[in-house]
Amino acid sequence: MTTPTLLILPGDGIGPEVMAEVRRIIDWYGEKRGMAFEVSEDLVGGAAYDAHGTPLHDDTMARAQEADAVLLGAVGGPKYDDLDFSVKPERGLLRLRKEMDLYANLRPAQCFDALADFSSLKREVVAGLDIVIVRELTSGIYFGEPRGIITEGNERVGINTQRYTESEIDRVARSAFELARRRSNKVCSMEKANVMESGILWREVVQEVHDKDYPDVELSHMYADAGAMQLCRWPKQFDVIVTDNLFGDLLSDAAAMLTGSLGMLPSASLGAPMANGRPKALYEPVHGSAPDIAGQGLANPIACILSFAMALRYSFDAGEEADRLEAAVEKVLADGLRTADLIGEDGSTPVSTTAMGTAVLAALDDSL
Ligand code: IPM
Ligand code: MG
Repeated sequence: MTTPTLLILPGDGIGPEVMAEVRRIIDWYGEKRGMAFEVSEDLVGGAAYDAHGTPLHDDTMARAQEADAVLLGAVGGPKYDDLDFSVKPERGLLRLRKEMDLYANLRPAQCFDALADFSSLKREVVAGLDIVIVRELTSGIYFGEPRGIITEGNERVGINTQRYTESEIDRVARSAFELARRRSNKVCSMEKANVMESGILWREVVQEVHDKDYPDVELSHMYADAGAMQLCRWPKQFDVIVTDNLFGDLLSDAAAMLTGSLGMLPSASLGAPMANGRPKALYEPVHGSAPDIAGQGLANPIACILSFAMALRYSFDAGEEADRLEAAVEKVLADGLRTADLIGEDGSTPVSTTAMGTAVLAALDDSL
């Protein structure tokens, strides 16, 4: 079998720093587990704009299409705030998602026991929390036409369109049901069928897919606003949540905060299987580029490291190695190691990005 290829796109802000730690982890798997990857790096976001005048060069897009998996750090920063909308760093990420057709975005929100007190919610509400939001990622209001800012009479009008086809809902629903079968067999679908036609169709199609092919999975439906409320009230009632692009964007940030730190959460964006059977895939931390702390060695590399664990699980069929990496992270946290984002009132000294990476590597060594 040929060596699997990994395209690394560190991007902006803290992206390069956290990705440097992931590269050490990848090397560890090569040396200690005989899992070789052909790794290459390229630019995305503001970094690509600085070099090429575009947030994603066509060559990079082509390489992403070929790669067995893409790992992305983060994009954006205040330096790019005044750029034209069409070349903003975020457009690079959105182009990757759209052209690779990565329609199923898996965003786990897992509360590590060692961090349960970091949540703004009570420990008993979040301790042991382990849910996944499956966010539709390539359609809906993010991409619907018509869109734009037009002039009507003597004022401007901003327009975006929420649009979902049956097949778009069908395929992401299947991703959610498949995932649920490997977990607690429970899916809650969220939309606003009370006010949006796209929500009515969403609910109908999810129910049809369920009744036809996944009757064994427990399915419920919830309005997305009520879903947001329930996420804060008692999040452990959920297992897999499936929802559209915009609601998924909002709900996943809320879910992330339940776990105590945005610096901990990975994500996988998956598309249809390629010729080799692997899904098209891009893995990225949920956190952003955090320009305020970039370049200071303060960033938490765990979300990016856990994103690589997801790559092991979903792209490289190495679930046990993913478990190993996740256990190493859990051990380091249980040992009390904390980057600056995880320091509370207790006055303990935070460790650097690199020190956290080194500790995870040591825990990996211990696991052998
Ligand atoms: C996310 C981000 C992106 C989104 C931005 C950076 C385009 O918020 O991945 O959640 O809105 O999808
Ligand atoms: Mg977001």
